[in-house]
Amino acid sequence: MKRDLLTILDLSTEEILALLSRAAELKAWHRQGRDPKPLAGKTLALIFDKPSTRTRVSFEAGIAHLGGTSIYLGRNDSQLSRNEPVADTARVLARYVDGIIMRTYGHEIVEEMARFATIPVMNGLTDSHHPCQVLSDLLTIQERCGRVTDLKVAWIGDGNNMANSWITAAIRLDFELALACPPGYEPDAALLALAHKEGRAVAIRPDPVWAVQGAQVINTDVWASMGQEEEAPERLQVFSPYQVNADLVRQAPPAAVVLHCLPAHRGEEITEEVLEGPQSLVWDQAENRLHLQKALLEWLVGG
Ligand code: CP
Ligand code: NVA
Repeated sequence: MKRDLLTILDLSTEEILALLSRAAELKAWHRQGRDPKPLAGKTLALIFDKPSTRTRVSFEAGIAHLGGTSIYLGRNDSQLSRNEPVADTARVLARYVDGIIMRTYGHEIVEEMARFATIPVMNGLTDSHHPCQVLSDLLTIQERCGRVTDLKVAWIGDGNNMANSWITAAIRLDFELALACPPGYEPDAALLALAHKEGRAVAIRPDPVWAVQGAQVINTDVWASMGQEEEAPERLQVFSPYQVNADLVRQAPPAAVVLHCLPAHRGEEITEEVLEGPQSLVWDQAENRLHLQKALLEWLVGG
């Protein structure tokens, strides 16, 4: 039966750990010029309703490394832009290609795509989740800390798609997750409730200092996500106490690392000093999108 990756909850704990270890292996092999070719003869469609640098290029490059071919459809390229139903698009594309990577707005759109496509569908970001990013971030943490459990991870800022994906990761891997979000900008209440039901140490308070104290990992993201451009001026005011700057980073242990999925707005959610500073892992983090997604493609599409 085909498998999809719409949220991290689609994976078991064992599957996440296996993906991380295969991604580390593929990264080492890539550096030695030894990419396997499990996608030889396979084609993937990328359907992107929102812009992308990392997700698009890391997926397309990764597909090429693994011997496959990709077809990119931007927001005006397919008949989706003229209201052809997602269900029809899914059934047609499944006759042509071996997998779909989709970036869009409402999460229900990727769910519909996955329901009607008989091929694997991978979520390249929705308004609600960004699973490929957080799985790649776990690879970065594994490399630096040697583990992805028994950790405290701080999330500072908006309760957005990234924050939701961090909650799903904490549900599966049981690390401590402290979210500092302003009132009214909390992540998905149902996911927080699920984390609590599963007995996970996931807590939320409007206090960035509380979140970073004792944390090995400090994470942030833009204050206005794609699709929220009109709210940006108001958000700039609300989120100003949530900037990841040197003063805040000093409240965490000296070995703490700083992550940002990028693109970053220097001087807003993060300062130039921290983003370019010695505790920042953002370039390794961006690179790891490539390796993690290659492991995912090999598993879901390479068969
Ligand atoms: N982090 C991330 O998903 O970047 P892009 O929007 O450039 O794909
Ligand atoms: N939360 C951001 C992530 C960008 C990679 C957005 O959705 O725009």
